[in-house]
Amino acid sequence: MDVHAAGGPGRGIGPVSAGAADGAAHWFAESYAGEPDGVWQAPGRVNLIGEHTDYNDGFVLPFALAQGVRAGASRRDDGVLELRSHQAPDAPASVRLDTLVPGRPGGWAAYPAGVAWALRGAGYPVGGARVAIDADLERGAALSSSAALECATALALTELYGLNVDRRELAALCRRAENDFVGVPSGIMDQSASLLCEQGHALLLDCRSGETSAVPLDLAALGLILLVVDTRVRHALSDGRYAERRRSCEDAARALGVASLRDVTDAPGGIERVERLSDPVLRRRARHVVTENARVLETVALLRTGESMRIGPLLTASHVSLRDDFEISWPQADATVDAAIGSGALGARMTGGGFGGAVIALVARERAADTATSITAAFARAGFTAPRLSSVAPSDGARRDR
Ligand code: GLA
Repeated sequence: MDVHAAGGPGRGIGPVSAGAADGAAHWFAESYAGEPDGVWQAPGRVNLIGEHTDYNDGFVLPFALAQGVRAGASRRDDGVLELRSHQAPDAPASVRLDTLVPGRPGGWAAYPAGVAWALRGAGYPVGGARVAIDADLERGAALSSSAALECATALALTELYGLNVDRRELAALCRRAENDFVGVPSGIMDQSASLLCEQGHALLLDCRSGETSAVPLDLAALGLILLVVDTRVRHALSDGRYAERRRSCEDAARALGVASLRDVTDAPGGIERVERLSDPVLRRRARHVVTENARVLETVALLRTGESMRIGPLLTASHVSLRDDFEISWPQADATVDAAIGSGALGARMTGGGFGGAVIALVARERAADTATSITAAFARAGFTAPRLSSVAPSDGARRDR
C-alpha cells in the first residue's frame, strides 16, 4: 500500500535511503577528504508496547526500523575525535579524548563524544577517529534517533580499535553516555532495541534481568500494516517532564515499600495495593506501569501463539493508560488514535517518551488506505500541521554496512 498516495501528504519518517551507506561514505569524503575505514549503521526503533516501564525494571517490546543513523569513520592516531553530521553541518566538533568531561561538547556531538567517554571509562582503549554522521531518521519524532546515533558511533569506535564488546554491555555504555554525559535520564530500551533486534521480530526485554528474546512479528504474513504517524509535534526527553515521571515512579515505589514498581507487577494482588495509594497522582502513575507490564506479557503471549490479530485492543488500552494515568499524551496523538480506531484499525497508541513524536496504528492491509485518509482528515479538521505517515516493518539491529 502506498500510504502517501492514500492520503498522507508528507514524507513519512523518511524513506529508507537507497545506498544509504554510500551516502554516509560521501559525507565522510566531503567532510574529511578521503575514504572512511568503514560505515556502521544503527536503526531507530518503534516500541510496540511497554512504555515507561524500562526504568521501572519492567518489560518492553520494541522492534528496529529500517531507518537509522550511519557513521562513516576512520582512525586517527593523535587522540582527537572529530565529529561532523550531515544533519547539522554548521555544528562540527573536535575534542581531545583525554579532556572529555560531561557537558562538553554539547548539542548533537555530546551523544557520540559521550560514547567515546563511556567506552574509555569502562577501560576500553578507543583512540581518536574521524566520524561522519548521516541519518534518515528525524530527531524528536520519538523513534530513538539519539540511541541510533550512540549505537552507530559505538560500533564504529569499537571496531576501528579491534575491541570485542558484548552488545548488551555496549547498550549499557551507550545508555551511560546518554544519562551521565548528555544528562538525559533515559532507560535501557532504545539502545537495546538498536543493538539487539532481529528482522521480522520484536524484542522482549526484561529490564530487570536483562534477559531478551525475539518474538515473531511478521506483519506482512498476517496481512497487517503498522502505520507510523509522525504527529509533527516535537518532544525532548531533556525538558524535565520525562525526569519528573521517573521521579513519580520512584516515589510510588517507595510509598509501596518496594525497590521498583516491577515488584508490584510480580506480587499477587499488586494492583489492589496500587489502588490503595493515597496520593492520586502516584496512584495513576503506578497503575499505568503495573498494568502496562501485564499488557506487554499478554501481547507477547498472543504473538507467540499465533493470535497476533488480537493484540490491537492491548495497544489501544496502553494508549488510554498513557493518556489518562501517565498523562503524557498530546492532542495530535489522541486525534490520531481516535481516527485510526474510528476507521477500523485493530489498535493504536502513542510510542516513545511522550509529549510529542509518533503514534503507531495496526491495520488490516485492505483498510490501511482508509485509516491513513481518516487520520490526515482529522488533522486538517483540527487545524493541526499535516501528519507524515509511513508503514514500517521489523528490521535488523545495528551492523557494519561496508
Ligand atoms: C524514551 C527513553 C526510553 C523509555 C521511553 C518510554 O524513549 O529513552 O528509555 O523510557 O522513553 O518508554
